[in-house]
Amino acid sequence: MGETRTHRIGVHPVILAERATVGPPTPYTLLLAENIAPIPGATVIEIGTGSGILAIVAALQGAARVQIVDTNPAAIEAAVVNANLNGVADRIVPLSIGESIIPLPAGERVDLAISNPAQLPLPKTAEAHNPYYAGPDGRRMIDAVIAAAPRYLAPGGRLLMVLNSVTDFPASLERMRSVGLEPRVLEERSLELRPLFDRVWLDQLGGAARGLYSLRDGTAYETIYAVEARASKA
Ligand SMILES: C[S@@+](CC[C@H](N)C(=O)[O-])C[C@H]1O[C@@H](n2cnc3c(N)ncnc32)[C@H](O)[C@@H]1O
Repeated sequence: MGETRTHRIGVHPVILAERATVGPPTPYTLLLAENIAPIPGATVIEIGTGSGILAIVAALQGAARVQIVDTNPAAIEAAVVNANLNGVADRIVPLSIGESIIPLPAGERVDLAISNPAQLPLPKTAEAHNPYYAGPDGRRMIDAVIAAAPRYLAPGGRLLMVLNSVTDFPASLERMRSVGLEPRVLEERSLELRPLFDRVWLDQLGGAARGLYSLRDGTAYETIYAVEARASKA
């Protein structure tokens, strides 16, 4: 195996093998990881697992079973290797991609669904060559996960997502409410816009005037949010 890197998430050191074919944890990942509370015995699905770090944290926080899915086969491979490195492979279960973005068998429900979705607004011309492309407004994966979640959450179950301002955060909260989930912000952080953002494109979408980003002393910042959206108990 090549290089490994250890990330400290709360009380847990999480060891990840570094791989060129799978994105490393980002500030979005770390915000969400730090907001996975203890979940003894819970059943979990993670949509878009990448390195597997969020699934591993869920297992370290006590989940009984964490099912994982990703459209990138290299991600599933990496997540399994990383689950082994952290001693939780017996509780991490890869799923095949299905028709639904949450490919659980019909009727199966989980206590918690976790996702750090691809959410980078980019012009359509970027589609072919950017792994974070999620439609021109960056909402494709966000909306698909929110739309599917209620069918797969147990009564009182939760959808835990990290969401950003550049994809229109109020719209994400509204989507959650429209499918019967009750969202609440657990934590938010401001981040300087990284070079992967296309500022010209963001401005065409409405930019700072629409709250997609904010400007302070000439520097542009996005806001990222860890959000928990709860299904009703009925
Ligand atoms: C932003 S990365 C998050 C990776 C990891 N969970 C983390 O937080 O660092 C999004 C992941 O979703 C995957 N993905 C994109 N579209 C998907 C889809 N329709 N279904 C499942 N996974 C998808 C990508 O391959 C990528 O690994």
